[in-house]
Amino acid sequence: MARYAHIIGWGMAVPERVLTNQELEGMVDTSDEWITTRTGIRTRHIAGERESTASLATEAARRALRMTALSAIELDLIIVATASPEHLFPATACLVQDAIGAARAGAFDLSAACTGFIYALNMAAQAIRSGSIQHALVIGAETLSRLVDWKDRNTCVLFGDGAGAVVLSASDVPGGVLSCVMRSDGSGANLLYVAAGGSRYPASPETVEKGMHTIRMNGREVFRFATRVMASSTREAVSLAGLQLEDIEVIIPHQANRRIIESAARGLKLPLDRFLINIDRYGNTSSASIPIALCEGLADGRINPGDHVVMVAFGGGLTWGALTMEWVGVEMPVTPRARWRRRFLRRLARLRSFLVRILRKLEGLLWGARSHPRSSAKDRRRRHE
Ligand code: ACO
Repeated sequence: MARYAHIIGWGMAVPERVLTNQELEGMVDTSDEWITTRTGIRTRHIAGERESTASLATEAARRALRMTALSAIELDLIIVATASPEHLFPATACLVQDAIGAARAGAFDLSAACTGFIYALNMAAQAIRSGSIQHALVIGAETLSRLVDWKDRNTCVLFGDGAGAVVLSASDVPGGVLSCVMRSDGSGANLLYVAAGGSRYPASPETVEKGMHTIRMNGREVFRFATRVMASSTREAVSLAGLQLEDIEVIIPHQANRRIIESAARGLKLPLDRFLINIDRYGNTSSASIPIALCEGLADGRINPGDHVVMVAFGGGLTWGALTMEWVGVEMPVTPRARWRRRFLRRLARLRSFLVRILRKLEGLLWGARSHPRSSAKDRRRRHE
């Protein structure tokens, strides 16, 4: 029997703190008028002290799971697409895995900048369609505000924080993820990057002094590249799905600049109202922008069963891609028993995680010194002979 990969749950999380253009006017040499007309951004959400990529990802994941009858223990795979991970390693996905109690899931981060969510959704869908897994959690999560140079007006006005998550499940109902194109061009790596903190330029007083830990971007070049690939990859993905552009009811574009979205609409000769746009309220949340727009589109009734949907993005790398989906509206009704089971298993997982940590500590105290077996007096004597 053919297998299809459908989104059965979705959720988003953004920090409470909203930063307005007017506030930015007091921080750098900019104006509300410039930001609004050049980018379409009015406000963005900025993570508070206690928030991070993992905490936002976890909150979005919990909300997505709550829409389904699944418990986290039933997840086979967690992918977090992010350009601003919690740490270099471990993967942010592992922190989410522990926080939600997905004790049987493999977990990894995917680094493809703003295209990350599309890459991740495609990877999970392929794993489901091949029959190797049943349920996956795909998250796009960012706290780019932590990588922004707040003195650089070229970049600091653009980015925001947030997370969006979907639960992707196997089903024999035709539809779901239909096609995807994933592309890259590393010759443009120098157009958008954070130079230091990796193996090329490890953190040092010099890298900090030179501001090498913050985002550097050639805005004009990225703009030119983006307007080119948004339309071409959409066309490619739609054709791969055996559809025509006219069949597409909704396009969810990466929210980087309203003018880029308008240019893609012109290139595709599609009306702008077919595009979901929320950049005015969130700014560019990188890999989180598409799942956040998806959540809002579903909440607002902009996406309905039977709709063909295209997600299209571009970003650092350079990377770009587009994914076509048939939104069938496959649901997994949440019974009170399923809700109760999920809550119970979550508490159990939390307890398990706590006990495993204690046990690991105890083992370390008791046996830690013996992790490299101690040589016996006899061995030592033999060595000295
Ligand atoms: N306020 C006021 N003036 C500004 C600001 C600002 N915040 N930022 C730049 N300017 C100035 C520039 O200094 C320049 O001045 P100059 O002419 O005296 O040199 C002038 O505005 C015009 O600059 P441009 O770069 O030509 O402005 P443009 O219209 O191209 O808009 C922008 C700049 C918004 C950055 C645009 O190029 C863009 O959106 N590029 C794409 C960026 C993007 O999508 N990045 C994210 C990729 S996704 C990812 O992977 C994270």
